[in-house]
Amino acid sequence: MQNDELQGQLRRLIDGVMNGKMSRREAIRRATVLGISAPVAASLIRSGVAMAQSTPEATALAPGHSIVVPGDLRTDLAGQRISVVLSEESNPAVPFFEAAHAKFTEATGIEINRIPGEQSTTDRLAIYNQQFGAQSSDIDVVQIDVIHPGILAQHAYDLAPHLSEQAANHFAAIIENNTIGGVLVGMPFYTDAGLLWYRTDLLEKYGLEVPVTWSEFETAAQTIQEGERAGNPDFYGFVFQGNAYEGLTCNGLEWQYSNGGGRIVEDVEGTPTVTLNNEAAIASFERARGWVGGIAPEGVTTYQEADSINVFQAGNAAFMRNWPYVWATTQVDGSPVNGVVGVTSVPMGEGEGSSHAATLGGWQLMVSKYSQAPDAGVEYVKYMTSPEIQKARAIEGSYLPTIATIYDDPDVAAASEFIPRLKDVFQGGAVARPSSVTSYLYNDVSIAYFTGLNQILTGQAEAGAAVEDIVSQIEDIISEL
Ligand code: GLC
Repeated sequence: MQNDELQGQLRRLIDGVMNGKMSRREAIRRATVLGISAPVAASLIRSGVAMAQSTPEATALAPGHSIVVPGDLRTDLAGQRISVVLSEESNPAVPFFEAAHAKFTEATGIEINRIPGEQSTTDRLAIYNQQFGAQSSDIDVVQIDVIHPGILAQHAYDLAPHLSEQAANHFAAIIENNTIGGVLVGMPFYTDAGLLWYRTDLLEKYGLEVPVTWSEFETAAQTIQEGERAGNPDFYGFVFQGNAYEGLTCNGLEWQYSNGGGRIVEDVEGTPTVTLNNEAAIASFERARGWVGGIAPEGVTTYQEADSINVFQAGNAAFMRNWPYVWATTQVDGSPVNGVVGVTSVPMGEGEGSSHAATLGGWQLMVSKYSQAPDAGVEYVKYMTSPEIQKARAIEGSYLPTIATIYDDPDVAAASEFIPRLKDVFQGGAVARPSSVTSYLYNDVSIAYFTGLNQILTGQAEAGAAVEDIVSQIEDIISEL
């Protein structure tokens, strides 16, 4: 074994001991398997751990290590307890939330009861509607999607009188999106944009460039799939989110917009107008239909974000369409794709009006109008959306900040180089779903769209006919506006 390879192996053993995944005894045993005698192994592991503990990186292994607690938090609300709904329990962000909450409680004395939410944003909205519809005070703070302010405004405690000073530091477009009839419905927690993730090692192996157009992308995915199948029958060229839920609306918007096919519903001289029925959009859906059972698994029509990450993480896909937080999930010890992941813009068409497209996503924190502890809720929102926490989340979880200055922070760039690199996409270059123009009816519009798209992908409907059907449904829905 090469000396540096041996050092790398030892480093991993020491890391294993540091993050509690391996006992010292087990690390020593594994070191002896590498050909090091037991006493030397024991001494190397002992001094390695001691050195790691004395360096600033040591704490890097604990979730929340990069959090600096803001100094301006209220202490007069100590003893209050709030219930908050952030992500689903299996989300990789949970350990960070726990650490952030512990620090918040320590600083303010406000206790937090974290309640897991639904993984799919479509299901999550349904539950929020139920709970808020019953004016329940059980939940004080919820994480809401960028498409939700118009739908949930009626249940929101207005944050404007309390947090407008802080709001001025966040992207103006998101604050505008979150302001409904003068009410600041939510404070921006993080923003999102659809990206194309790929395997750098496999592009290299097959002598391929990072694809720019959909045709180049298909050729690359096909070439790699054919090559890799020889050794791995489970290998696919591409995974994305094809299940009938909001994530498919995000993918579909990228397909059509990148092909010059518009944004589903658009404001035409002040009137919400369905622009979906066009050749470029239909052609983009036909193209996507062609992937299923070809470069993408048949099962992709049931995939959400986590399903595609599982396949990609296991080393079973060359390309994946997904959000920025994927970066942090691949940067972990033991991940077979650690160190061989690249990221670029979602490919584009070649016809007129084609351009790169990244669907704008992201989440906000809203205080419920029915909360019995709104001040504690506001304090919590102020803390969780602060520059300090946003910076820590960018470093530890590669979540995109909603405050411009954090993008150029050297600590952020060191942890996730793509955040400053793709800054133009993240700061205004992403394509919004038509949630402002369709307001409180957006969810119905999206359901019609993703249901039709899913039928195209599964082959239940032909693209042109499905689009006509979607268009007539959406026209019907928005006639209420
Ligand atoms: C991500 C985005 C969100 C989007 C969802 C779809 O969470 O941030 O805006 O609606 O994915 O699955």
